[in-house]
Amino acid sequence: MPPIIPPHVIPPKSVRTSLKLLAQSARCILETWPEDMYTSETYQPPVKGVLYVMKPDALAQILVSQADKFEQSHLLRRIIKPVWQSGIATSIGAAWRWQRRAAAPVFSPKSVTAIIPAANTAAQQLCEKWRASNGASCEVSHDLGNAAQQVVLDGLLGSWSSAGSADILQKHGADLTQKTGRINYADLLMLPNWTRRFLGPVLDRPAAGLHAEVGARLAALKADDSGPLLHLLAQSKDPETGQVMSQDQLRANIVGSVAAGRETTALAIAWALYLLALDQDAQAGVRAEVDAVVKGDDITAEDLGNLTLTRSVLHEAMRLYPPAPQIVRDCLEDTEVAGISLRKGTAVTIPIYAIHRNPSFWDQPNAFQPDRFTDPEVFAKQNRFRYLPFGGGARVCLGQAFVMTEAVTMLARIIRTLHVDDATMGEMTFETGATLRAKNGINLRFKPI
Ligand code: HEM
Repeated sequence: MPPIIPPHVIPPKSVRTSLKLLAQSARCILETWPEDMYTSETYQPPVKGVLYVMKPDALAQILVSQADKFEQSHLLRRIIKPVWQSGIATSIGAAWRWQRRAAAPVFSPKSVTAIIPAANTAAQQLCEKWRASNGASCEVSHDLGNAAQQVVLDGLLGSWSSAGSADILQKHGADLTQKTGRINYADLLMLPNWTRRFLGPVLDRPAAGLHAEVGARLAALKADDSGPLLHLLAQSKDPETGQVMSQDQLRANIVGSVAAGRETTALAIAWALYLLALDQDAQAGVRAEVDAVVKGDDITAEDLGNLTLTRSVLHEAMRLYPPAPQIVRDCLEDTEVAGISLRKGTAVTIPIYAIHRNPSFWDQPNAFQPDRFTDPEVFAKQNRFRYLPFGGGARVCLGQAFVMTEAVTMLARIIRTLHVDDATMGEMTFETGATLRAKNGINLRFKPI
């Protein structure tokens, strides 16, 4: 059987500066990426001060060996500032380094096994909800967003004693997701910060709501009823200076983690479910694997190590539909990376979606073939700056192990419990803001096994 070719963006042959291009960039940036971007080493768009870099050797230098010359994009930092305040993702230099070092043990593969019970519960609740839909079409990314937020908060703050508080947090979390769906024209045109309020969505209101609620919850927490990871985070010290996080920094990093993990994780699982709905053989394969590996009701840390195909489906889903389709660095000084000259002030953009579909890096790049990830050696080879769903280098996603633990648990549990069919009627329009999502949602039908 030939592999399934799921829907993808058809790139234009070339692009020219126009108002239409601007509107298209705000709606779905991927539609403005010409064919060239999928095969070339660099691409100069018709926008001053931006250069796309796709060459893996150059990316290794930008993200690792010359990372001190490339700073986290100032535009991204101003977008997410209301959410992260002075937490990890918005900090640079020494303020970033110590927080990253202090938080690293909390997000290690070993520590994050603590969230497996919360991921099992979240998946079970989703299955109950979707089973009750009696085969009607369900939009899954919103439900998965709520579930992903719950897992982050359970891990960090512990289970909610107050359902009201959980509802408030879900309301602000969903508002945040909705507002990050569109790019603000001020960021697209690199205009001053004060213009943002008039030119697109800003995150101030949902971020303030999350900070108020998480702050109140933190203040009311007793030492022994916090989530397993908060306990670690509150005690984590910078290994060099012994500094620990203040209450404000803890709050900023918890709210930031909700924002970083809510829609991205939801999309990784939603796209994986969608691909399994399109490829019924792969779905049967995942179900057979889960049935063979998982013996109890709940999925355990030991089971996760043996769910190779389930994990590969998630990796392949994030290759085809990377939740974060691009990342950006500001070039701090004139330099050269792997033969590419870069000028100070350039916004060096790494187009993850295009790199993941480069035919020189991937056999049949548009095909859904999860088994390309089953061999760890091949995976490691692909991983060398060709596979970047979590970015790369020092600022690689801190939540990487957290996500894989959570998403494999949830996907395995859903596929074991429910049969999934596509309900999009073959129509798929993409939309980008901070993430890569389906314009009309990811719509699926469920039947009990
Ligand atoms: C599928 C889900 C996720 C994806 C695809 C994803 C992707 C990314 C990417 C691409 C970056 C790098 C940004 C850059 O270099 O500019 C990043 C950074 C980050 N992510 Fe994730 N993320 C996910 C989930 C999470 C979760 C669940 C958490 C926390 C619980 C998290 C915490 C962070 C943090 C703290 C950073 C900033 C790291 C730093 O600046 O040092 N992420 N993520």
